[in-house]
Amino acid sequence: MARILILFSSTDGHTIKICGRLKQVIERNAHQVTTVSVKDFRHIDLAAFDKVVVGASIRYGKHSKLVFDFISSNLELLDSKSNAFFSVNIVARKPEKNQPETNPYMRKFLRQIAWRPKELAVFAGKLDYPKYSFFDRLMIRFIMLITKGPTDPATAVEFTDWQQVEAFGLRVSEM
Ligand SMILES: Cc1cc2nc3c(=O)[nH]c(=O)nc-3n(C[C@H](O)[C@H](O)[C@H](O)COP(=O)(O)O)c2cc1C
Repeated sequence: MARILILFSSTDGHTIKICGRLKQVIERNAHQVTTVSVKDFRHIDLAAFDKVVVGASIRYGKHSKLVFDFISSNLELLDSKSNAFFSVNIVARKPEKNQPETNPYMRKFLRQIAWRPKELAVFAGKLDYPKYSFFDRLMIRFIMLITKGPTDPATAVEFTDWQQVEAFGLRVSEM
C-alpha cells in the first residue's frame, strides 16, 4: 500500500471533482489517498507520502501561481518520489488538444518548471456559465465564440472524459 498525496488547485470545484474520482480509483487499488488544496501546501509534510500527484485548472491562460511556488519549494523531494501532474482546461475539449504533447497549457507549463513529472495527463474541464460572474461569463462566451464552443449563457456542461480520468488513476496506482 502506498500513501499518495493529491495536491489540487481549483477555483470552481471541477478539479476537486476529478481528484475525487482519482481517489476512488486509486483506493480501489488498495492505496491510501489524501487530497489537499495547494493553498495549504506549506502545512503538508511531503516526506509522509510515497507518491505525489499535482492537479491544477487553467484560468485565463494560467495555472495558479501557488502551484509554481509549491513546485519550486519542493523540487528535490518531488523528484525523489513517484510523481504525476495533470492539467484541467477547456481547450482540452478539442481532440487535437487533449494530450500532454498537444495541449498548449501543458506544453507551456513544462517549459516554465524545472520539475519533470513522471506521469502527465490533460483533462477537459467544465463550462458553467450560470455559475460565473458577469465579467467572467462575458469573457468566456467571447473565447467560446472565437473557438467555436457553446455560447448559450444557460450552458453547464462537463467536457471531462471520465474514462480518461480513471485510466490516469490506474497509472498513478501502478507507478
Ligand atoms: C474565469 C475563467 C477563465 C478560464 N480561462 C480558461 C482559459 O484561459 N483556457 C482554458 O482552456 N480554460 C479556461 N477556463 C476553463 C476552466 O479551466 C475549466 O472551467 C475548469 O473546469 C475549471 O476547473 P476548476 O473548477 O477546478 O477551477 C476558464 C474558466 C473560468 C471560469
